[in-house]
Amino acid sequence: MPELTLVDGSGVRRDFPAKLTWQVIVCTVIAACGGLMFGYDIGISGGVTGMDMFLEKFFPEVYVRKHQAKANNYCKFSSQLLQLFTSSLYLAAIVGCFIGSICCKKRGRKPTMQIASVFFLVGAILNAAALNIGMLIAGRLCLGAGIGFGNQAVPLFISEIAPARYRGGLNLCFQLLITIGILTANVVNYATSKLHPYGWRISLGGAACPALLLLLGSVMIVETPTSLIERGKNEEGLHTLKKIRGVDNVDKEYEEISQAVEFSRQIRHPFKNLWKRSSRPQLVCGALIQIFQQFTGISVVMLYAPVLFQTMGLGENASLMSALMTNTVKPIGTLFAIFVVDRFGRRALLIEAAIQMFISLGAIGVILAVHLHSTNVVAKHYAVLVIVLVCVFLAGFAWSWGPLGWLIPSEIFPIETRSAGFSVAVIMNFVFTFLVAQTFLTMLCHLRAGTFFLYCAMLAVMCLFAKYFLPETKGVPIDEMVERVWKQHWFWKRCYKDHDTGEGGLDKPKDNTIA
Ligand code: BGC
Repeated sequence: MPELTLVDGSGVRRDFPAKLTWQVIVCTVIAACGGLMFGYDIGISGGVTGMDMFLEKFFPEVYVRKHQAKANNYCKFSSQLLQLFTSSLYLAAIVGCFIGSICCKKRGRKPTMQIASVFFLVGAILNAAALNIGMLIAGRLCLGAGIGFGNQAVPLFISEIAPARYRGGLNLCFQLLITIGILTANVVNYATSKLHPYGWRISLGGAACPALLLLLGSVMIVETPTSLIERGKNEEGLHTLKKIRGVDNVDKEYEEISQAVEFSRQIRHPFKNLWKRSSRPQLVCGALIQIFQQFTGISVVMLYAPVLFQTMGLGENASLMSALMTNTVKPIGTLFAIFVVDRFGRRALLIEAAIQMFISLGAIGVILAVHLHSTNVVAKHYAVLVIVLVCVFLAGFAWSWGPLGWLIPSEIFPIETRSAGFSVAVIMNFVFTFLVAQTFLTMLCHLRAGTFFLYCAMLAVMCLFAKYFLPETKGVPIDEMVERVWKQHWFWKRCYKDHDTGEGGLDKPKDNTIA
């Protein structure tokens, strides 16, 4: 496999000898099973909340309203309790992610992933066996904790083991498995929706499969060299670095990690340091990219796609079928991104996709505004057009804001604030997914098609953000971001002008720059 040659900002060629080894590929695929858990849950919740047998057992008033002939198209699924079922998971995920970030730093990335899979497993069992709404919500909380731990550890893990030149593509495997998880969940839902009255138990219990894959697979993976060195296991760190890079000459990279870790030891309170001026660029960009990921309107489309299709008058099966179709587009989109993200760069994908999603979401809004009134059913050809537009929207998301929402925050922070900073970004994802999930049905009920125009406006803002405020990070070694990316950026370099020194200051010593 090819050796890596890096070219720094000044055009000087520098070598970090490394091969893309099988070890790295296998570790990436196993860790990315964390994405499979996350995706399976997203797909299952959307489908199960559209199933009659599930609604009848746990949300009888929604069931009754859904079947009232004259129920309002935009309001028939609106129920605080039903929204709480979907979003309770995100509340637990926020807490899980915060604790997970401490665990990541103190115990390592690998045990954090293992804890994630155990939580998820317990949640799947509780949900499959649920006798009442209490058990259902308890299961959701465990699943949420699992997702919090997992989404914190997995992207960090992959970004740290990947050679710089392949980091983007490898990290995107996380999103690829999220989309495969969603697709699998749709297939399962489609099959179990016919199994009365317990199909939903199989759907929810199926979450145990990705959890087991991660748990059993994690026995085979290594800990990241950065995390080992950070916890004083230097020998093991060096040994692992040699193993995953497939070469003996890893001195430069080892030295760079050691220096970064050495500097990070002076930082006693990573969370406190995040609020310093010199952490601002990463914190703002990391958090914003995750918030923006949700403001694309993706959760609206994902969590409620089957509900949305039913609102448009497609039957229960037809809507599950179309959700299945639209979800096939996403893995293909992300697969495309895996091959181009380290070539075209992150920003080009983000800008192009924001425009594509703006157009498709706007068109959906117009069709709904003109053709979907309170109690009618939209003509078939318009319903089909909406499905096509949803596919265009999802393809854009799948090669941009979806995967890059995880990749960019995992690669922009220096080691001293990496775990804490990344957790803030991930928590933003959960908070905003929660807000969107909690408000969408109510918003749809009141704003109607206007909901979609609101997300269009956000997409315009995001496009400008990617163009002017987000620096390009492709190919830059993860521990050199401050020097080569942030200090060179037209806007963010101002955060490094005055010295942010003193106790807990974040500016690196001058000699830390590796020539
Ligand atoms: C997002 C989820 C979304 C999923 C869709 C993830 O990256 O965080 O909110 O539903 O992608 O593929």
